[in-house]
Amino acid sequence: MNLPSVVAQPGMPDAVRIYEVGPRDGLQAEKQLIATDVKLEFIRRLLAAGLRTIELTSFVSPKWVPQLADAADVVAGVDLDSARHPVLVANERGLDRALASGVREIAVFASATESFAKNNLNRSVDEALTMFELVVRRSRDAGVAVRGYISMCFGDPWEGPVSLAKVVHVAERLIDMGVTSLSLGDTIGVGTPGHVLALVERLEAAGIPRGVLAMHFHDTYGQALANVHAALTAGITEFDASAGGIGGCPYAQSATGNLATEDLVWMLTGLGYHTGVNLEHLVEASVWMAKHLRRPSSSRVVRAMASTDDRGQA
Ligand code: HMG
Ligand code: MG
Repeated sequence: MNLPSVVAQPGMPDAVRIYEVGPRDGLQAEKQLIATDVKLEFIRRLLAAGLRTIELTSFVSPKWVPQLADAADVVAGVDLDSARHPVLVANERGLDRALASGVREIAVFASATESFAKNNLNRSVDEALTMFELVVRRSRDAGVAVRGYISMCFGDPWEGPVSLAKVVHVAERLIDMGVTSLSLGDTIGVGTPGHVLALVERLEAAGIPRGVLAMHFHDTYGQALANVHAALTAGITEFDASAGGIGGCPYAQSATGNLATEDLVWMLTGLGYHTGVNLEHLVEASVWMAKHLRRPSSSRVVRAMASTDDRGQA
C-alpha cells in the first residue's frame, strides 16, 4: 500500500503549499563537499516528483557555509521558470550575487534569540535586522520577493525557552521592512502543538495575519507532524520540509533534519490535499540522495515505502 486512505477533516484550509528546503537546509551542514552536479540532479528529481517551490541554495559567506560555495553554479544549472526557486541571502554582498544569478525570490534569516544571532550571523538580533533592512529594500526595488525566516521560535539550545514576545518583536520588524511572508523556525525541533497555536494567536494579536505565516519544523523530537497538524487547524497553509528529512543548521547545536517532505505529503494526502507530488518518485529521489550522503533517510515514509519494493536503502 503506497498511499493512505483519504479522509478529509472538516475545518482545514482548502489548499496548502509545500516549500522544499532539501537542497539548501538539507545539504548546508554536510561536512563532505557534494558535487554541484549531484545537487543539480537532486533538484531535477525533486522537480520531476512534482515539487513546485524548491529553495536552491544560499548566497552566504563560503567561509561560514563551505558546502554552498557553489551557489551561483547551482542557480545557473536550474531553469528558473520550472518552479519557484528562492535562495537565502544574509547581506548585501549575498544580494548582489543572488541578483546577478537571476533569482526572483530570496529569503533573509533572522533569529528570535541573541545566542543564535551571534552564532549564525555574527551579529546581535537588532544588528542582523539592520543588515536585512537594506537587503529587503533593494530586493523589493528589484522586484524580488522576500521571505523572512525567524529561527529559534520555540526554544534555543543556549538560552532554553524562548518567549512569544521575542518572536513577535522580530516578526514585526521583518513585516515592517517589507517581507511578504514569515517562516517560523523550530530550528532544534522542541516545539509542541499548543505552543504553535499560542504563537499564531500572539502574532495575530500583534496584527500579523495567519495568511503570511509558514511553518518550518525540524523533527529532532518527533513533533514536526503533530505541529503541522496543529498549524493546519489554525489555518496555516505553507509548510517547509526537506526530502528524506535531511539537514540541520551548522550553527545550531542539536539541529537535526527538517520534517521529511514524504512524511508531510503522506499526511496531507490522507487529509485530502492535492499536493501535486508523486510520492513514489519523491521517495526514489530521497533514496538516491541518501546513497550519495552514505546514510539512510530518517523519513518514516521513505523507510516504509523503500522497504516494500526493491529500491532498498543506502
Ligand atoms: P562575518 O564574518 O561577520 O562577515 O559574517 P564578514 O563581512 O566579516 O565576512 C567574512 C568573510 O566572508 C569575508 O571574506 C567576506 O568577504 C566574506 P574575507 O574578507 O575574510 O576573505 N563574505 C561573503 N562572501 C560571499 N558572499 C557573501 C559574503 N558575506 C561575507 N554573501 C555573515 C557575517 C552574515 C557573512 C556570516 O555570518 C554568514 O554568512 N552566515 C550565514 C550562516 C548560515 O548560512 N547559516 C545557515 C542558514 S540559517 C538556517 O539554517 C535556519 C533556517 O533553516 C530556519 C530554522 O531552521 O530556524 C533558515
Ligand atoms: Mg532550518
